[in-house]
Amino acid sequence: MANEAMQQNWAEGAAGWVANEAVFDALFAPVTAAILERSGPAVGHRVLDVGCGTGTLLEKCAAAGAEVVGVDIAEGMATAARKRVPEATVIVADAQTTDLLGEAPGVPFDRVVSRFGVMFFEDSTAAFANLRRAAAPGARLVFACWRSDEENPMFSLGSQILMDRLDPKPETPAPGAPGPMAFADKDRIDTLLDAAGWGSVRIEAFDFECDYGFNGTDGVEERLTTILGGGIGRLARDQLVPRIGIDGWESLVEEVRGELRRHLVDGALRFPGAVWLVTAANPV
Ligand SMILES: C[S@@+](CC[C@H](N)C(=O)[O-])C[C@H]1O[C@@H](n2cnc3c(N)ncnc32)[C@H](O)[C@@H]1O
Repeated sequence: MANEAMQQNWAEGAAGWVANEAVFDALFAPVTAAILERSGPAVGHRVLDVGCGTGTLLEKCAAAGAEVVGVDIAEGMATAARKRVPEATVIVADAQTTDLLGEAPGVPFDRVVSRFGVMFFEDSTAAFANLRRAAAPGARLVFACWRSDEENPMFSLGSQILMDRLDPKPETPAPGAPGPMAFADKDRIDTLLDAAGWGSVRIEAFDFECDYGFNGTDGVEERLTTILGGGIGRLARDQLVPRIGIDGWESLVEEVRGELRRHLVDGALRFPGAVWLVTAANPV
């Protein structure tokens, strides 16, 4: 089966993502707005959200009057999305391999959108070709994906402390391997979309501030909870609690907290966020 490792990863990661839905939505609000601006969902459109997670884009597109369909590989995400957007059709499926119009019958999609949901495919060209098969002629594809680790320091700050303690450590992913940074290389996105048959590809660098202090706090607990619910946090807990005990684990978490506190900017955790905003069209 394709994408088995990522399916397992997200099955385990869904609970953390669902619990932190409000944090992610606040942090990524500028990215959400940019996707909506470029995709322009409206009455009469049928929109597909790929890797829809808990349904942020589904909710916004439905509010704009579109008919919305979400696809996500993780049951926990789909359940949350259905609850949040009852009018949406949400299918639990691999967007790389599933016949999307077969699973969500209706007219082909006018818009295919995604916020950070398309970087996890084993075969990205096959996945984008599959998405295109479900798209109407002239349909617009709009998605956001992360640029490099170096441009996104929030990925390593604090979690590096946990990573340093892991033994064995997870393998460093090869460039382009499925994961958040799979599309850091802009040329790769261009090449694979072209190979998948999408045209008029435009890839814009989009910079925003990831502000963990969005709710008036210093944002340290908000960042900490997303680290602990993420892949490294879960792996570290599973590996280290049996080795160092719960007290040892709690002092390690305190170390992470201290590291985050040392990086407050004007009283809160604020990181530069660097993404690619990609738009393309299904040739008529
Ligand atoms: C980083 S989360 C983003 C979730 C949501 N789009 C958001 O912005 O809140 C990535 C999502 O992609 C989903 N995903 C990963 N691989 C997938 C695949 N092959 N097919 C469908 N969904 C997938 C995951 O289950 C997860 O919900």
